[in-house]
Amino acid sequence: MTKFRFLTAGESHGQGLNVIIEGLPANLDINENYIENDMSRRQKGYGSGGRMKIEKDRAEIKSGVRHGKTLGSPISLWIENKDWKNWTVPMSVEEVDPSEDIKVQTRVVPGHADFAGSLKYNHKDSRNVLERASARETAARVAAASICRKFLSELGIEIKSRVKSVGWESSEINDIESIEWGFVEKSEVRASNQEEDLKFKKVIDKVKKERTTIGGVFQVIAFGVPLGLGSHTQWDKKIDGKIAQSMISINAVKGVEIGSGFDNTKKYGNQVQDVIEPNKDDIRNFSHLTNHSGGIEGGMSNGNSIVVNVAIKPIATMTRPLPSVDILSGEVVEASYNRSDICQVSRACPVGEAMLALTIAEEILEKFGGDSLQEIKRNFTSYLKTFKEYGNQK
Ligand SMILES: Cc1cc2nc3c(=O)[nH]c(=O)nc-3n(C[C@H](O)[C@H](O)[C@H](O)COP(=O)(O)O)c2cc1C
Repeated sequence: MTKFRFLTAGESHGQGLNVIIEGLPANLDINENYIENDMSRRQKGYGSGGRMKIEKDRAEIKSGVRHGKTLGSPISLWIENKDWKNWTVPMSVEEVDPSEDIKVQTRVVPGHADFAGSLKYNHKDSRNVLERASARETAARVAAASICRKFLSELGIEIKSRVKSVGWESSEINDIESIEWGFVEKSEVRASNQEEDLKFKKVIDKVKKERTTIGGVFQVIAFGVPLGLGSHTQWDKKIDGKIAQSMISINAVKGVEIGSGFDNTKKYGNQVQDVIEPNKDDIRNFSHLTNHSGGIEGGMSNGNSIVVNVAIKPIATMTRPLPSVDILSGEVVEASYNRSDICQVSRACPVGEAMLALTIAEEILEKFGGDSLQEIKRNFTSYLKTFKEYGNQK
């Protein structure tokens, strides 16, 4: 069995994005249409920039799959950038004539990667940083995660997401059982109901008029996760730590909360712990009365839904740019502006789902490791049966 890992490559306006995923089992059904469906969800969104109208993402499966099934060998995907035809000179791999317009950028954008990246990598054109720091890269993660989601669905694990707040407007819904997921999927702002849909859009419209940008909080939930992923035995084995890292790696994400972590700080201890009771109808023979801990205790999944809230900052690139500097001349200038989103909170949701899927898939493979889907399913089922040894030995 090979350890699970994945790697992405590609620039925002380059030829396209590459992904290699290693460690997924053999005999999983997968095809390009399935992946495309997940990728199209990353492209919808109220307050998205023009780029989304150009790109209709499709990942081509280049290896690791034969006759619709994974082989157990590395899977490679290729996602073409449809805009490449307009960038063949500025993004040419070969050297170009110095008289050509290569869209050099030296006016760095406060809050973006270009200032630190240009000085660190000794680049005199901050495009060399921006091209890779761009959230275009997340398309590759969503494609990789799509195959992991198919794998997780074979074990009854499903991942969903919604927007909890945009700017100063928040969702009133805290009970995840009452979320209408059909509505969320149709809503351009991934709101939980019509009222929230309207109020989130109103914020985005106001922000657009003011020629600035706005962030928010989105929520990612994994349903059907078995008890026992991650471990309390070492700091880097804790699943909450791994989830936090995967979420914070998403462009512009600045905060991660497991369950009601921040709200819990304002309450008494007896109000926030999830009391356990015997329950013969639950696969664990026990259940929790609440899920304030977001499905994780002691760095391990406890069998409840994993609930993660993710804070994403307002986009740095704005139609009314902030004062900045030209990194070559040292002059005070306006930051550069490239086509950009007003609010990316809803578009970040599928990326959050992707990162949670990749993290959980890795944990599942580590715990139930096997080379074929059948072997993993056998290990998974027999492990779940061991819970019935508890709660009945008076
Ligand atoms: C879905 C999504 C879309 C984004 N779109 C833009 C954008 O249009 N313009 C922009 O400046 N930043 C955008 N960002 C954020 C930048 O990629 C990010 O702020 C930048 O890489 C700097 O990294 P940091 O904010 O994580 O520190 C987007 C992020 C996500 C998740």
